[in-house]
Amino acid sequence: MQNLFRRKPVNNECDIGLRRVLSAFDLTLLGIGAIIGTGIFVLTGVAAATTSGPAVILSFVVAGVACAFAALAYAELASSVGGCGSAYGYSYAAFGELIAWIIGWDLILEYGVAVAAVANGWSGYFNNALTAIGLGLPEMLTKGPFAVDSVTGAPDGGLVNLPAVAIILILMGMLIVGVKESARLNAAMVFIKLLTITIFVAVAVFHINPANWSPFMPFGWFSHNELDKPIGILAGASVVFFAYVGFDAVSTAVEEAKNPQKDVPIGILASLVFCTLIYIVVSGLLTLIVPYTELNVSSPVAFALQKIGVNWASALVATGVITGLTTVMLVLYYGLTRILVAMSRDGLLPAFFSKVSDKTHTPVKNTVICGLIMAVMAGFIPLGALAELVNIGTLAAFVLVCGGVLVLRKTNPDMPRPFKAPGGVILPALGILSCGALIAFLPSHTHERFVLWLAVGLVIYFAYGVRKSRLNAVNA
Ligand code: ALA
Repeated sequence: MQNLFRRKPVNNECDIGLRRVLSAFDLTLLGIGAIIGTGIFVLTGVAAATTSGPAVILSFVVAGVACAFAALAYAELASSVGGCGSAYGYSYAAFGELIAWIIGWDLILEYGVAVAAVANGWSGYFNNALTAIGLGLPEMLTKGPFAVDSVTGAPDGGLVNLPAVAIILILMGMLIVGVKESARLNAAMVFIKLLTITIFVAVAVFHINPANWSPFMPFGWFSHNELDKPIGILAGASVVFFAYVGFDAVSTAVEEAKNPQKDVPIGILASLVFCTLIYIVVSGLLTLIVPYTELNVSSPVAFALQKIGVNWASALVATGVITGLTTVMLVLYYGLTRILVAMSRDGLLPAFFSKVSDKTHTPVKNTVICGLIMAVMAGFIPLGALAELVNIGTLAAFVLVCGGVLVLRKTNPDMPRPFKAPGGVILPALGILSCGALIAFLPSHTHERFVLWLAVGLVIYFAYGVRKSRLNAVNA
């Protein structure tokens, strides 16, 4: 019988020959590059119109607070445990192999489905830009067959989301030939993204209509609509939580950080605080310039600017968003392949996931398999369903990361912790509670899909990983 809780040592080295070039500032930009995307540029509108009303700003605050607890836990583990593969690596040291597998399987869901979801958001803005120059695609080629109207539940008449499929296949090609996220390229993209937001804010502040905030909380804190879908500020928080997904990607860059124990915690916390402030400003302004009921569209920020008659800003913002969403996908796709490499190196997944091509020096098979699966998801499954699935996977990972902090404080009390979340057990415990609560506010069909995903993961682990694990070979 194998020991399902065999653990890797803490402070396990993770040096696979990458150069340590990233400073705390670069890591913060990397975080912002991965964080700001479909969540703020698309889901804010959907959540305002269907779940929270203008109080979507409070949904952002609630989700941001839950993320802050998790970010402190990530920062503590990044500074003390180290290791490859982000939360997967930490939990291998804290909880042992079975939980590490579950969290890794969870991260695959988070990153993989997030790329498909962001591709959907990208497609909305891209098609809008095509329409603006008279080349708009027919509606059936911009939506998958399962897309439904979020208010009435009636089918939306889609066939396949072609632009979403295309962008993933293009990114797949880029990652195969080795277009690597360089800090400089990322910084340029982040600059464009922030410029886009600055333009929006600068225009929007002159078109505020306070009447648009009345009523402020049309759906209250929490209830259900006629389709039995959760609505209200808390349900909205569990949707816009998607906007924060990605700050944990900073922890996948541990091996490239100059001074990881200090800089990774700074990168995680600084990017989260910065993005939370931006989200509060943007969601507040968006609902102040147009009535929330009109925001259930695929490119709400550009739409709102058009609606107030500032077409030049709308076009500029749409272009900036298309660029900005591309970095989010690139960083998350790259992070996904990196986690699969780590899990494959540990023997929990087949070796071809970590096989690096001699020609391109990239994990080609891994990248192609991920790209094809994500392209199919992006083409056929609507954004809302994808985002909810990402959120439940990420929230579950956050719960486990906060739990990992508590476990390691007990099992390894003397381990050096260059960064330690203040307040004893209180903050990690609040992290478990708040992320757990956001899971509860998601629709029940999302819970069912997540349980199914976990069940598939367990079958794979017991059929494969438990025997093939490298720790198994070491202990044999
Ligand atoms: N946080 C990222 C986004 O909103 C995943 O697109």
